[in-house]
Amino acid sequence: VDPRLKAITAAIRVVPHFPKPGIMFNDITTLLLHPKAFKDAVEIFVERYRDMGISAVAGIEARGFIFGPSIALAIGAKFVPLRKPKKLPGEVISEAYVLEYGTDCLEMHVGAVQSGERVLVVDDLVATGGTLSAAMSLLERAGADVVECACLIGLPKFKGRCSLNGKPVHVLVEAINKSM
Ligand code: PRP
Ligand code: MG
Repeated sequence: VDPRLKAITAAIRVVPHFPKPGIMFNDITTLLLHPKAFKDAVEIFVERYRDMGISAVAGIEARGFIFGPSIALAIGAKFVPLRKPKKLPGEVISEAYVLEYGTDCLEMHVGAVQSGERVLVVDDLVATGGTLSAAMSLLERAGADVVECACLIGLPKFKGRCSLNGKPVHVLVEAINKSM
């Protein structure tokens, strides 16, 4: 395993019972306070994706905006924000998705990706995979070729070889989801 992952894992804070009783919140804001670990996390993704012919990185609001642009700049790709509803000013396509209670929605500007363009989807964390699935649907409806989804943290079922909607999901560290 990559020796840099130990410090990355150690810098992620786990907050029990946030935002609701029983939820273990894996908080990346503490990682951002450690420039070396933050940089290493971005670099591990850059090393993986730099030679994969990716021309667009799509980041999911809000926490996917923290990692996506750094990866995009380093691999020479454009950055495409996938936003929560009614934030983008131009013409959009929307994809609703189901949450534990109720639904949410992601939107993307029409014209942000080209047909056949090779896209990497970036977010901080994958839990149910609902958010990533919605992001992939949006991109695929626009004709993009989703190469992979990259998340810093994933629930144990997403660590190791895993796919969602037939596309690989690459996770750096396992989420802590039980109190120890
Ligand atoms: C969190 C997280 C992922 C998503 C993962 O975002 O940042 O985007 O949930 O959950 P899932 O795999 O079950 O879909 P959230 O919508 O809480 O908001 P934020 O990124 O805007 O903070
Ligand atoms: Mg999020």
